[in-house]
Amino acid sequence: MIFKPFMREGFMPLPIAFISTLSKDGVRNIAPYSCIMPVLRPLDLICLASAEKRDTLTNIRDMDQFVVNLVGADFSDKVIPTAKFSPPEADEFELAGLSEKASKTIAPPGIKGAYAWMECELATLHQDRGYTLIMGKVCRLEVADEVLTPQGTLDLKKACPLMMIGSEKGMHYCTATDMDQFTPFGQMFPDGKDPLEKKYVI
Ligand SMILES: Cc1cc2nc3c(=O)[nH]c(=O)nc-3n(C[C@H](O)[C@H](O)[C@H](O)COP(=O)(O)O)c2cc1C
Repeated sequence: MIFKPFMREGFMPLPIAFISTLSKDGVRNIAPYSCIMPVLRPLDLICLASAEKRDTLTNIRDMDQFVVNLVGADFSDKVIPTAKFSPPEADEFELAGLSEKASKTIAPPGIKGAYAWMECELATLHQDRGYTLIMGKVCRLEVADEVLTPQGTLDLKKACPLMMIGSEKGMHYCTATDMDQFTPFGQMFPDGKDPLEKKYVI
């Protein structure tokens, strides 16, 4: 079948991350964003695609800071309360019944109950017609111990990341359940060695 080009996300499961920000008046804001991606290994940049009329974008423009909260599928009932239009003066933590988790390096708080928190400083904004790409530098990445394997990788079954697949009528919430296949990065290179290996040593 051939589909309309804008139906991309019907065939490309996307994460639903909750972006928390503070306005210049100190109002707490939360919005779900699915257009989000890390920018190249091993950089510490993360990119969000934002429509122009977003309090999130205004707050990031004004304050230069945001938290990317990664949540489990149990947060699906928080998507609509935070995605629905609410005026900039509304506290969206209160509105969605969410509690804050204080950040360590930036002013905007993260969300309690998320399984990972990326504290980000604005790096650059790329504005084009109808959208802006927000490039953030991840200053601190914290992951809840409960969702880590003893080897320090994500335990997918415990994290149960909230994701979505789009359709003509709406969003199907979903998750990823299987990470059993594994290939070392080195296999991409002729000598079998990952040139970035040393970057990953803590
Ligand atoms: C699952 C989901 C994903 C979304 N992803 C994005 C996104 O990537 N970029 C965007 O600009 N809006 C996205 N939205 C819409 C915003 O979340 C929504 O407009 C929200 O009210 C913006 O809140 P704010 O004005 O407080 O920033 C998404 C909505 C949902 C339900």
